Amino acid sequence: MEKNMKVCVTGGASYLGSYLIKKLLERGYIVHATLRNLGEPSKVGLLKGLPNAETRLELFEADIYNPDDFGTAIHGCELVVHMATPLQHQPKNSQV
Ligand SMILES: NC(=O)c1ccc[n+]([C@@H]2O[C@H](COP(=O)([O-])OP(=O)(O)OC[C@H]3O[C@@H](n4cnc5c(N)ncnc54)[C@H](OP(=O)(O)O)[C@@H]3O)[C@@H](O)[C@H]2O)c1
Repeated sequence: MEKNMKVCVTGGASYLGSYLIKKLLERGYIVHATLRNLGEPSKVGLLKGLPNAETRLELFEADIYNPDDFGTAIHGCELVVHMATPLQHQPKNSQV
C-alpha cells in the first residue's frame, strides 16, 4: 500500500479495527473509520487520541442494518477493511 492512500475501516472502534487504524495512521495512511454512534465518547476518544488522528482520521456513523450509511465513508477509498460485525445477527436490530 502507498502512503496517503485512503483506507476505510468499518467497525473502527473494535478491538482489531482500532489496532489496525493505529498502525495505518502510524504509517501515514488516511483513514475513514465507521462507528455506529459518534456520540459515544469512549469510542470516539480512543480513536481521536491516536497519533496522527487529528490530521489523518475521519469518523463516520454507519450501521450494518442501514447499508446506505457506508457510502460516504467508503467514497474515495482504495481499500475497505470490513471489521464491523454484529455479535449475533438479528435482522433489523443493531443493538445487540
Ligand atoms: N477478536 C478476535 O480474536 C477475532 C478473531 C477472528 C476474527 N475476528 C473478526 O474480526 C472482526 C473484528 O473483531 P473484534 O473482536 O475486533 O470486534 P469487537 O471488538 O467485538 O467489535 C465489534 C465491532 O462491530 C461493530 N458492530 C456491531 N454491530 C454493528 C452494526 N450493526 N453495524 C455496524 N457495526 C457494528 C461494533 O461497532 P461499534 O463500536 O460502533 O458498536 C464494533 O466496532 C469481526 O469480524 C470478527 O468476527 C475477530
